[in-house]
Amino acid sequence: MEMSLVLIKPDAMERGLAGTIICRLEGLGLKLVALKMLHMDKALAERHYAPHREKPFFPSLLAYISSAPIAAAVFEGEGAVELIRKAMGATDPARAEAGTIRADFGLDIEHNAVHGSDSPATAEEEIRLFFSEDEIYNYHR
Ligand code: RTP
Ligand code: MG
Repeated sequence: MEMSLVLIKPDAMERGLAGTIICRLEGLGLKLVALKMLHMDKALAERHYAPHREKPFFPSLLAYISSAPIAAAVFEGEGAVELIRKAMGATDPARAEAGTIRADFGLDIEHNAVHGSDSPATAEEEIRLFFSEDEIYNYHR
């Protein structure tokens, strides 16, 4: 079954939005199969955002994502990746469709509340960065 990595980013943690965002994703019918808090260090941030290494915003992105603890979660379900991307909305909250997580809670293009994997293949790699196999649970929802 398809899985996706979700990160509740520092700006959302600092405004007490972790539960709200997890609640929205559970409300899509997706199954929460892994959950933890961590403070991303520079090394983990560089690995997670490696595809953006050459972008002008990369240094700022690393500083932001490691500026406060985050919550990391894995959601499982049919089409989980696409469902979560739709629920998050566009990267820039100002362009995100009404009712999406980023439209409702994002502050700007960098401080946009949430991360979700952009393909099933990326999801597998990202999940492996944050969770060991025994931290991903199997149960009936
Ligand atoms: P994410 O990876 O966090 O789910 O976001 P995304 O796919 O919608 O956007 P992506 O292009 O992968 O960018 C990763 C994160 O980098 C920050 N960003 N800042 N200043 C800028 O122009 C800029 N562009 C992107 C955002 O935090 C974005 O989510
Ligand atoms: Mg991305």
